Amino acid sequence: MLDFKDTELKNIIELRGITQSYDNGETVIIKDLNFLIEDKPAQGQFVVILGMSGCGKSTILRYIAGLQEPTAGSVLVNGQPVGADNRVSMVFQQYSSLPWMTVLDNVGLALRYKGVPKKERDEKAMELIELVGLAGHEHKFAQYPTLSGGQLQRIAIARSLIANSDILLMDEPFGALDIQTRIQMQDLLLSILHRFHSTIIFVTHDISEAVYLGDDIYIMKSAPSHFVEHIKVDLPLERSRDTKREQRFVDLVREVEDRMISVAQLG
Ligand SMILES: Nc1ncnc2c1ncn2[C@@H]1O[C@H](COP(=O)(O)OP(=O)(O)O)[C@@H](O)[C@H]1O
Ligand SMILES: [Mg+2]
Repeated sequence: MLDFKDTELKNIIELRGITQSYDNGETVIIKDLNFLIEDKPAQGQFVVILGMSGCGKSTILRYIAGLQEPTAGSVLVNGQPVGADNRVSMVFQQYSSLPWMTVLDNVGLALRYKGVPKKERDEKAMELIELVGLAGHEHKFAQYPTLSGGQLQRIAIARSLIANSDILLMDEPFGALDIQTRIQMQDLLLSILHRFHSTIIFVTHDISEAVYLGDDIYIMKSAPSHFVEHIKVDLPLERSRDTKREQRFVDLVREVEDRMISVAQLG
């Protein structure tokens, strides 16, 4: 099992001794799982989780978002039990915008919940709509096929950024997109990352995407699951499509792939 060492630094995310079981303990999905992510406040970080389907990746994100409690173990965000006032946003694989509302209203939703007046939230929403490349679409309804899959995921990203969260959870956010759109979305994410000093926890099945975006990659074994591998992505922070052609990138993709295969052979 991967050994998470306690350090002097504060942990922004702390999952300790997690067990997740169903059917009165007959089905054990997660066992002895620890996941400690250090806070990097002035910098932010991109953490990628890889693992086979059903191993519990989405479950872990739900713990951090406060949408689910584990059967046993503790979940702390910024040193506190997860509660309503934690600053955590989530982007799902499936389109999660409200189709009866415009792009502008969808993006401003988190501010509306906070009671921010309309004029102010529209201004802030427009900034983010421009940032994610949707200017000109703000008065359209956030639905398919009025907008494409890629455009709907751009809305989801803008919606999650407006909350100015410390933690951004992304559960296979580009999984349903065609490859060209996916590459655009990866670059969009990289280009906006540096402005927000968030901790991003990103789940994907795509190893090349994991290496391209990630600072740290964690691999889970299958059920009863926990983390078994940690790979530090020692590529420069500034990445571009040329990065994918560099030898170090190619080597890292191979290394992650090899480790995924040996993890799959674990019981
Ligand atoms: N209510 C439930 N009862 C039984 N099993 C469940 C329940 N909810 C989720 N699971 C199981 O938990 C496992 C982990 O799910 P999930 O976190 O979605 O995995 P991943 O995101 O890695 O594909 C899955 O095998 C799923 O079938
Ligand atoms: Mg999942």
